[in-house]
Amino acid sequence: MAKVKRIPLVIGNWKMHPATLEAAKKLGKEVVAKALRARGTEACDVGIAVPTLYFDEIGKITKGKPIMLGAQNAAAGAVGAQTGEVSAGMIAERRGAFVIVGHSERRTLGEDNAQVGARASGVLAAKMTPIVCVGEKVRDTDGDYYHLVTEQLEAVFAELGPTAAARVVVAYEPVWAIGTGLTPTAEDVSTMRLSIKKYLHGKYGDSVANKVRVLYGGSVTDENATDFMQNGMIDGFLVGGASLSPATFAAIIKVCTA
Ligand code: PGA
Repeated sequence: MAKVKRIPLVIGNWKMHPATLEAAKKLGKEVVAKALRARGTEACDVGIAVPTLYFDEIGKITKGKPIMLGAQNAAAGAVGAQTGEVSAGMIAERRGAFVIVGHSERRTLGEDNAQVGARASGVLAAKMTPIVCVGEKVRDTDGDYYHLVTEQLEAVFAELGPTAAARVVVAYEPVWAIGTGLTPTAEDVSTMRLSIKKYLHGKYGDSVANKVRVLYGGSVTDENATDFMQNGMIDGFLVGGASLSPATFAAIIKVCTA
């Protein structure tokens, strides 16, 4: 496979934080200021996935700056009888650039592979980038988790042609590493990345496999980011808890621009 340079990507997932709009605006201002300083003029894509109710106010802070605004989930259809859902089109209209899809905290609530695939297609149809989360709940000694991740990928890529597929970002997030302080080794991450690339290569060939960025997520900090970046061979991070600390989030961005 030919070697190509992909632009790193760092996404902060605020989850259901912070508690008030005032706190969100304060956090947004600090995150954006520090992230811009950390990024400098380097080619590094940065985004924050905020609660959708805060979209417009945080959008005022990110407007005109190289920081993307994104959502943490999106329904596939444009409109419909889907109580509690927000559609990809609605998010795009409010200047959303990306949507996290299939996060394990959503899968735990019952979202299955087919729904994750439909949601990713909806995000692509709305001209945004889906950040598709894949990852195993536990690591068995037989390596079955590689098959599980491939099945999660297949549910998303099955219906996608090469042009759409190349726009997808895959975030490898072992469920057991999310919010726990536990992490796989950089070598484990690198091996899973290769498995993801092998799947894409088999399905679409070199060009798409080279374009799709693979992120790592799960207890990422400014302390472990360098090892993952250098030895995990990844293109960046999906950061949860640490993205609520503007200084730590900025330090992770700095690692990706080094
Ligand atoms: P964490 O979360 O960084 O707090 O482990 C990652 C995620 O849920 O995307």
